[in-house]
Amino acid sequence: MNIEDARALARSKTDKDTTYRHLVSVEGVMRRLGRHFGQDEETWALTGLFHDLDQDQTADDMKRHARLAAEWLREAGVDDLVVNGVLAHAHPEYQTDLMSKAIVAADAVAGLLVAGALVRPERSAGMKVSSIRKKLKERAFAPGVNREEIALAEPNLGLSLDEFIALGIEGLQEVAPEIGL
Ligand SMILES: [Fe+2]
Repeated sequence: MNIEDARALARSKTDKDTTYRHLVSVEGVMRRLGRHFGQDEETWALTGLFHDLDQDQTADDMKRHARLAAEWLREAGVDDLVVNGVLAHAHPEYQTDLMSKAIVAADAVAGLLVAGALVRPERSAGMKVSSIRKKLKERAFAPGVNREEIALAEPNLGLSLDEFIALGIEGLQEVAPEIGL
């Protein structure tokens, strides 16, 4: 599935604009990470884009979260690797390869980066690793962002926190026009 069709599917399945923007932010972070690791970046991007596809339907039922998305994606003929990655972000038993481990940390860092961009007039343009590191330490900033999941970049991906944040910023900047950041 190409990215235009994938975004159209994401738009059609999300009720809230914030959900759609979250999906695209994780798409951007995952694409950049996939490229860093020399893997198929569009597969990583689709995994990011689709990871919370059923968020607006399953928010109150975490057992079903990602499983409904997986059904939709299989029906749409999306690659099994992507379906596995989507399942992995909510169900650890699917965290079987680099991409399916990356999605958890990418999901969390994207939340922090979007929150960080929203408080800057320039949004994501010119965003610095050091300012995001500061926000990471400020627990009152974006309190819904799971800091422990961001820290998984080191054991799971072999990236230092600074490397991971830098890649995340670049990934967000690539999708910024789509989500007004
Ligand atoms: Fe998410």
